[in-house]
Amino acid sequence: MPTVQYLSHASFLVETGGRKILIDPFFTGNPKAPADVSRIDPDYILVTHGHGDHLGDTIPIAKRTNATVVAPNELAVWCQEKGAKTHAMHIGGGWDFDFGRVQLTIAHHGSAVAGPNGWEYTGNPCGFLVTSEGKTLYHAGDTGLFYDMKLIGEMHPIDLALLPIGDNFTMGVQDAIKAVELLRPRQVVPMHYDTFDMIKADPRVFAAGAAQHGAKVTILAVGEKLTY
Ligand code: NI
Ligand code: MN
Repeated sequence: MPTVQYLSHASFLVETGGRKILIDPFFTGNPKAPADVSRIDPDYILVTHGHGDHLGDTIPIAKRTNATVVAPNELAVWCQEKGAKTHAMHIGGGWDFDFGRVQLTIAHHGSAVAGPNGWEYTGNPCGFLVTSEGKTLYHAGDTGLFYDMKLIGEMHPIDLALLPIGDNFTMGVQDAIKAVELLRPRQVVPMHYDTFDMIKADPRVFAAGAAQHGAKVTILAVGEKLTY
């Protein structure tokens, strides 16, 4: 069975299909990051968008481990220019990797990398559907609530949904509860909250609301693992 390990904020390490898949590795400058990330050795790094709290440490980890960076095309090209091995994709497209299938979903948000000369825009942000070992994981990325989540849930029965609840930059608790109603996932883990003051949220309020829609909610502590 696949496992996910919560690495704080929107970062998770997924182990499935004999591979390690790191999502949105934001460790440097992250007050909630786990202590021992220097030896993390992913085969793939999935990056939802260019913001520093998601692109994060992608480039140094990719260079150290030779992991393949999977991202929307414009961001993948940006990563390739910085020396990473990449696999470019785009919204709606899927690809069969050696561990399983990845498909990109829409996410209502922005995507740009803060550089020395200001913002470098890196196209559209995304979410990821990762299907492996017969299980489907949905990482929503940074996004507001959108009604197409109903379509995503209809076409890809979701075993585990990772949903932002921190408000201000993404869905807050009440919208994330509605997202659970639309997606109908079997299990849910809240993310993207409490890292900074601007995204403080109470995951227990989210858990109680999401449970009303039949989902099993697990509030993961940093470093904690979950099987799905
Ligand atoms: Ni963002
Ligand atoms: Mn973010």
